Amino acid sequence: MTQIISGKEISEEIRSELKERVDALREEGGLVPGLAVVLVGEDPASQMYVGMKNRAAEALGIHSRQLTLPADTPEDELLGVVEGLNADPEIHGILVQLPLPDHIDEAKVIEAIDPAKDVDGFHPISVGRLQTGSGDFFAPATPAGVVEMLLRSGHDPAGKHVVVVGRSNIVGKPAAALLLRKAPGGNATVTVAHSRTPDLGAVTRTADILVVAMGRPESIGADMVAEGAVVIDVGTNRVDDASRERGYRVCGDVLFDEVKEKAAAISPVPGGVGPMTITMLLSNTVKSAETAAAEG
Ligand code: GUN
Repeated sequence: MTQIISGKEISEEIRSELKERVDALREEGGLVPGLAVVLVGEDPASQMYVGMKNRAAEALGIHSRQLTLPADTPEDELLGVVEGLNADPEIHGILVQLPLPDHIDEAKVIEAIDPAKDVDGFHPISVGRLQTGSGDFFAPATPAGVVEMLLRSGHDPAGKHVVVVGRSNIVGKPAAALLLRKAPGGNATVTVAHSRTPDLGAVTRTADILVVAMGRPESIGADMVAEGAVVIDVGTNRVDDASRERGYRVCGDVLFDEVKEKAAAISPVPGGVGPMTITMLLSNTVKSAETAAAEG
């Protein structure tokens, strides 16, 4: 029987642990962790994610402050908002929802966030510390969620050959770095492949653990997966489906039904990595608040 790695269930387990830590912060020092989510514009997908993040935070007792700015907000004004949040003692985590409108330099905004509040882990200081294994940093939520799913489902990546398919700054690259480092959840032999890798199947078939984050719907079939592999599908794609009332369905980058027959374990979409991303963001926010409490 193939093991289904439910990010939904693992998320619930982690969120109940987080709730205890939030309760302890409040009871011991009167501190409420605060997360600020900044949304520029009205992209419906971003609005949906931001709403989900807010609700999940509030459910744990984390104060969630949403700042919604118009799509034509000047870059300077957004940088000013970030500066204000950096200085605000009630805020322990800052997230600027990406993508930003074209007239705003994303890198400049990310670099304006105080690394101590960079719960997305996108600041170059966070990225650098992940790579060098030095100092405190926040790991980006989606790849941290992938690692947590592997550990909690009994598939420690240590000593395994992990193939990561995808090279984005948000998932592929940080996933490879986390899996490679000399730390719990790491110590894997890591290969990074991507959409331009010739004969991708020849590479993916060598994986003990296959992490797919390519953003191409249902592009990994059973012929690309070794018998007994563990497969984590990071893809979240909307594809047209006239048979559904809403006109689309959500699917991963992996052809779930056929790969399930070959894999030892596989994560579904939806209900896989998706819920873990929000959970790990909340985990980073709680960690940041604990650090603030310890520093007084
Ligand atoms: N857009 C898509 N994923 C993410 C994420 O993890 N963080 C932010 N800030 N924006 C995103």
